[in-house]
Amino acid sequence: MCGIFVYQGPRSDAAGIVLEGLKRLEYRGYDSWGLAVPGSDGLKTERRVGKIGAVSANDGPIAALNPSNVAIGHTRWATHGGVTEGNAHPHLSCDGKVGVIHNGIVENAEELKAELLAGGHVLASETDSEVIAHLIENLLRDHPLPEAVRLAFSRLRGRNAIVVLSASAGKVLVVAKSGSPVVIGIGGNESAPEYFVSSDMPALLAHTNRLVWLGDHEMATIDGSLKFASTSTGEPISRQSEIVAWEPEQAERGEHPHFMLKEILEQRDAVQRAINQPPALLDEVAAVMRVAQEVCFIGCGTAGAVGRIGTYLFADIAGRATSAILGSEFKNYRHSLHERTLLIAISQSGETADLLEAVDIALARGSRVVAIVNVPGSMLTRKAHYTLLVQAGPEKAVASTKATMGQIAVLGLLAHACAGQAAHGHALLTNVASHIDALTTPDYMGRVARLANRLAGEDDLYVIGRGINYPVALEAAIKVQEVSYIHAEGIAGGELKHYAIALIQPGTPCIILASNDDARAEILSNAAQVKARGGMIIGVGPEDNPIFDEYLPVPDGGGLSPLLTLIPMQILAYYLACARGNDPDMPRNLAKSVTVK
Ligand code: F6R
Repeated sequence: MCGIFVYQGPRSDAAGIVLEGLKRLEYRGYDSWGLAVPGSDGLKTERRVGKIGAVSANDGPIAALNPSNVAIGHTRWATHGGVTEGNAHPHLSCDGKVGVIHNGIVENAEELKAELLAGGHVLASETDSEVIAHLIENLLRDHPLPEAVRLAFSRLRGRNAIVVLSASAGKVLVVAKSGSPVVIGIGGNESAPEYFVSSDMPALLAHTNRLVWLGDHEMATIDGSLKFASTSTGEPISRQSEIVAWEPEQAERGEHPHFMLKEILEQRDAVQRAINQPPALLDEVAAVMRVAQEVCFIGCGTAGAVGRIGTYLFADIAGRATSAILGSEFKNYRHSLHERTLLIAISQSGETADLLEAVDIALARGSRVVAIVNVPGSMLTRKAHYTLLVQAGPEKAVASTKATMGQIAVLGLLAHACAGQAAHGHALLTNVASHIDALTTPDYMGRVARLANRLAGEDDLYVIGRGINYPVALEAAIKVQEVSYIHAEGIAGGELKHYAIALIQPGTPCIILASNDDARAEILSNAAQVKARGGMIIGVGPEDNPIFDEYLPVPDGGGLSPLLTLIPMQILAYYLACARGNDPDMPRNLAKSVTVK
């Protein structure tokens, strides 16, 4: 969940390069941050609490870290120990010569701590990460740095990624991974190569698009060249670099006040790119689906809601029964998996720990796995048998918008391919995408912003839908909750009378998703029930209705309506966050890539 950024190369302003890299990563973790470079008798560090935001490379203590050709840096999302300077990374060994930045959770940290304390080490922080620096310090007595790191890393339980810098080993960096993502960027030229390490690919794009993803149980030593080895055996392994087609500008905010707004506005293109899947791959995945006995969508958070939308799309378009399970709940179903189960794993990052664990469980049972994922090269793409890339480009706001829309579009296309109608599906999706612009005009955005201002003081908000609009309501509520912090719930219209109508009081805002589908009459009757209890009705759909107190028009998207209905919901969430003074890009307590369990 935290961010790693590292530089080694010919430039002497390594601390400044890493500082800028950390700023690009701040959406991953932002409670504290820190940097380290080698000094004459140990590492020199600078650690601070709070957002890195406006700190510049000219800032006194940062400037004092240069000149240096190597620097390691980290932005933290606290798991063990409070948000303090002392708990910020890099963590150092007792002699101050070994510095470690770490993503993940060392599950056996308490055991290792006890052993280190008994051996005379003094631990300065409350973190699980610090033990790694002390373990390496011990091992350096008998081993060179790469081997000391390998042996220390082998003692850690959990899904971890580390980068280690040692003052005694000069510029040498050692990277090791068993779960959390790590990607190495290779820049410069043959005679003067430069290396970058990051937890997140988009952060590297400003420097290079030549990348190597480190696999689990692999390590890399960067000593002016790049060598790979297995963390289990120490044996050398070979890894090829890949060129990634994402442009650096795609990862920049540009003129927009927030990434979330920029990404909402990019959704027409995102949908259009998502449906341009290689035809042979699409056919192959559709064929695998047709022969599968069971098809199950899995995802977490928003991607979990997308999976539920998928179940409606497949039932409606392909006449195919499927199920949707949250990544974190999937292990409970492991005994029902077999070779003819097909898992469709949906993810923006492709690095979500709960999802990857579910995929491992399915693979171990011989099931097939299809990934629908935005980040190329991510762990999910490496585990799955087939990958349909969403191609939304870098998504930096914590709240997923354009990647979500791309995932839904891929599911819509796949459902049509499954029904033997890929070309027809492509045409329908292109038509739906062409209506997205109507939802992002200044007029329309202003209308949603005014509604947000009206609702900004509310404590509770309900989003009510039937049919495919039920999971759309769940996703709409997720968006509102995560960036505005208003308590929002998605409710199936049919469930109101079973329990939820008890929540309605005079003035309670209820968003009614009323598409032009066969659920419309029933959802309007639900709206009437809510209105009879004094609820305030905000209608969202192609047709206005006298029962609506407020109305957000949405073009008719037919069977693919989620691609349109969700957009005003995302915009509403965005403006609610702004109206309440929240930073929509970095909502409290959340991180973009949830790589810990
Ligand atoms: C909400 C959101 C999260 C993610 C969830 C899974 O807007 O973005 O709920 O959907 O953490 O992440 P990925 O899609 O990276 O697997």
